Amino acid sequence: MIYSMKELLENAYENHYGIPAFNFENFDVLEGIFLGAEKVKAPVILQTTEPAINYLGIDNIVNIVKNNSERYKIPVALHLDHADNMNIIKKCIKHGYSSVMIDASENDIKNNIKETTKVMEYAKEYNVTVESEIGIVDSISNKNENDKEVKKHNNMTNIEDAKYFIDKTNVDVLGISIGNIHGMRVKETEINYKRLIEINNAIKRPLVLHGSSGINDSNLKEIIKYGISKINIETELRIIFRKALEQYLEKNPSVIKPRDIMGYVRELISEAVILKFEALNTINKSNNFLY
Ligand code: G3H
Ligand code: ZN
Repeated sequence: MIYSMKELLENAYENHYGIPAFNFENFDVLEGIFLGAEKVKAPVILQTTEPAINYLGIDNIVNIVKNNSERYKIPVALHLDHADNMNIIKKCIKHGYSSVMIDASENDIKNNIKETTKVMEYAKEYNVTVESEIGIVDSISNKNENDKEVKKHNNMTNIEDAKYFIDKTNVDVLGISIGNIHGMRVKETEINYKRLIEINNAIKRPLVLHGSSGINDSNLKEIIKYGISKINIETELRIIFRKALEQYLEKNPSVIKPRDIMGYVRELISEAVILKFEALNTINKSNNFLY
């Protein structure tokens, strides 16, 4: 069943567990996520960016996510990730997405409030959750894996800004910058726990950690104690997708059946997401939701 993301995350926030939000741009990866979630009875957030929607088709995405959530009996939210325009936000809401992110974090706080308020007003009519972001989450430029150049415009979420932003927008869930970085291919991110604890104490609502592919398991176990309820992961699944293909094709040079090749991809994705559910204490939390 597709839930509003707010409903899933408020349960996670109150019970100190995390719900991973996996990006997908391929339906075999999506199937692998569902197989893993079904195995450990974990609720999950499935998210796409606008380019992924253009590649897969919005009706395909919504119908497959809806059908699979019933088939595997998994409470899910379907989320639009990193949107920067009202067209795609309205399109996703009208097609059945249960959550959207307006990413105006590179604007000044006044414009970020303005953009977020616009989306809140529209989404409210459809009971759709809104995520926004205060502070800027860096990204490793994805030219190649040896590229250590990180755009140095990272700015940690400021407590006063976060409080003011929440007062003005009452946004459902907030993405924050506490050392996390997009596109990390190694688990080297250092979390600023002092800042995380201050933000959580100040705004007391579910927090979102972008760039979680760079977070090791011990930090995943830690962050859910301090309000991080949505943990965004894309890069790690992309790496696993490629590794699975390379491994299978090397071991089976004569196989040409896509369902055999992609069956192995599904298997490795499913194993990987189960490890995330374990680290985030999401296992069996599907029982917290009605069908
Ligand atoms: O919104 C998507 C995530 O923030 C991607 O994070 O690059 O660490 O997988 P990642
Ligand atoms: Zn992100």
